[in-house]
Amino acid sequence: MNKFTRIGFILAAAGSAVGLGNIWKFPYVTGEFGGGAFVIVYLLAIVFIGLGVFIAESLMGQHTESDVSSAFVKMSKSNNPNWKYAGFMILAGMLILSFYSVVLGWILNYVVASFSSLPTQSSVAGATFGALTKDVGTQIFYHTLIAGTVIFIVLKGIKEGIEKVNLILMPLLAVILFGLLLYAISLDSFSTAISFMFVADWSKIDEHALLAALGQAFFTLSLATGTMLTYSASLPKDANFVKTSFTVAFIDTMVAIISGLIIFTFLFEAGAPSAAGPGLVFISLPVIFSGWGLLGQIIAVSFFIALVFAGITSAVSMIEPALLFFTERFKMTRQKATILCGSIFYSFGIIALLSMSDAWGESLTFFGKNAFDWMDFISSSILMPLGAIVTCIFIGFFVDKNMLEEKFVKHTSLLVFKIWYTLVKYIIPFAVMLLFINKLGLI
Ligand code: TRP
Repeated sequence: MNKFTRIGFILAAAGSAVGLGNIWKFPYVTGEFGGGAFVIVYLLAIVFIGLGVFIAESLMGQHTESDVSSAFVKMSKSNNPNWKYAGFMILAGMLILSFYSVVLGWILNYVVASFSSLPTQSSVAGATFGALTKDVGTQIFYHTLIAGTVIFIVLKGIKEGIEKVNLILMPLLAVILFGLLLYAISLDSFSTAISFMFVADWSKIDEHALLAALGQAFFTLSLATGTMLTYSASLPKDANFVKTSFTVAFIDTMVAIISGLIIFTFLFEAGAPSAAGPGLVFISLPVIFSGWGLLGQIIAVSFFIALVFAGITSAVSMIEPALLFFTERFKMTRQKATILCGSIFYSFGIIALLSMSDAWGESLTFFGKNAFDWMDFISSSILMPLGAIVTCIFIGFFVDKNMLEEKFVKHTSLLVFKIWYTLVKYIIPFAVMLLFINKLGLI
């Protein structure tokens, strides 16, 4: 099997982790929950919960060098074949990719639109965005471009496709974000953004905030869908999986924080509200950029290009668990598996975008949720929590503890192992169970 280089793995895993979740979702959720206190809760969720699952997945992948389904069987104490059903996790990545590709299409459309003109008023910006989400033709066009790019990249495989793309796009992303950060630092409102994000106001923190932070930690680290396990199957055998996991989580967190600082500085500079929800990036920001003339246009184009880069490197990681599953377990060729999985997520993406249109909306709405929202709900609220619980309980109760300990002490101390093991066996499943029950209660 073609392995990543160590740096290739770190960039690819960071490329998977850093995505719309960091640059779009993290800032708007932080804005809705009032800033600083939410950031603290989020950081705790990353360190004590996300990182634990990340390390577990990475260990399983590196140790078994297998697809999700075979990895569970091979790691279980008596090689119990029933663990193959844990392979259900690959469905979540495919489902997320279906609507993620549509959203990336919107962003690509914004890159193109930012070249010509930006809306000067929020009412206009809101109407433009609203119209886009109902415009079937335009969305199909951009969804096709994105899906085609993703399929083209993964067809070439881990090394020639995924590693190469990440080696190019991740440094470019870093350059754009750094440039935007420098510009934000030069503005007066940067200090306001700093205090918004780091001074805690606990009054807005309730159970919804805690669960949002936990859900965000899982999503942003691409956990519980087999992505990190699958990438780790191509991690060199001698690489320190604990250290690489920390590095990737650190990069992901830095990008989220930096994106938050950039976006809040821009919002405060323009006197715009910080709690604008999902429309923050699609409605509030374009209006602000339009007030800055040519510079604003350059910033707008760079910002949306950064989002596309971040999103593409995530998108390719969502389909990979399914590809490895089909090529390993069913001995399909990579081409066949890619065509199969590509057609599935492409078609689901079409269903997702049709479900927002006037013509199809009604027939694609079930129990008050349209198909787009159902795909989001089933993946993020059902499959991902379930995947995390299954992984932790598996590690805690069905894998030989001595074997795990041995793997850890090769690279770190016994203490790190003990902390990780306790977290994964007792604390994380409990926390995720709460998340799960809460989300289901919201049906
Ligand atoms: N982590 C990515 C983001 O923040 C999204 C992502 C990529 C993902 N692969 C995933 C989410 C697998 C869940 C599962 O945008």
